[in-house]
Amino acid sequence: MLSEKMTDTLNNQLNKEIYSAYLYMSMSAYSSYSGLKGFANWFMVQYQEEMAHAMKIYDYINDQGGQVKLEAIDKPATEFESTLDMFEKTLKHEQFVTKSINDLVDLAILEKDHATNIFLQWFVTEQIEEEGNDNEILSRLRLVGEDGSGLLMVDKELSARVFTPPVLSQ
Ligand code: FEO
Repeated sequence: MLSEKMTDTLNNQLNKEIYSAYLYMSMSAYSSYSGLKGFANWFMVQYQEEMAHAMKIYDYINDQGGQVKLEAIDKPATEFESTLDMFEKTLKHEQFVTKSINDLVDLAILEKDHATNIFLQWFVTEQIEEEGNDNEILSRLRLVGEDGSGLLMVDKELSARVFTPPVLSQ
C-alpha cells in the first residue's frame, strides 16, 4: 500500500521517465537528420529503455493498488550544437534523474515503505549504468574533437546497440 505522497511522487517519476524517452527520441530524430545513423540508433534504443522504466513504475503503482495519473509531457529540445552537446545534455539529464530517484529512496526510508525502497533499488543500479555509459561516450567524443572520420567511427560503434527489455517483474 502506497501513501498518497508516495503515489504522487511515483507518478511524477513516471512523467520524468516518459519525458526522458521523449528527449532521447528528439535526439534520435536530430541525429537522423544530421546523417548519423549510429547516434540515431543509440538514442532510439535509449528511448525504448526509458519507456520500459516508465512502464516498470506504471505496473508497480497498479500492483500496489495506487492510481496512475498521467501528466503533460514537456516539449524537449529539438536543436543541438553537436553530438558532444547531445551527450553533455544526456549526462546532465541523467544526473537529474539520479537525484530524483535518490529523493524517492529517501522518502521510502522516511515512510518506512520497505516495498518501494526495494523496488527503487533496481533504478539506483540502473542509474549507475546509465551515467557510466554516457561518461564513456562523452570521453570518446572529446578525444575525437572535430575529426570527422573519428566521429563516423563512433557512429558505427553506436549503431551496434540493441534494446534488451529489462525484466519487468523484478
Ligand atoms: Fe530512466 Fe535514463 O533513467
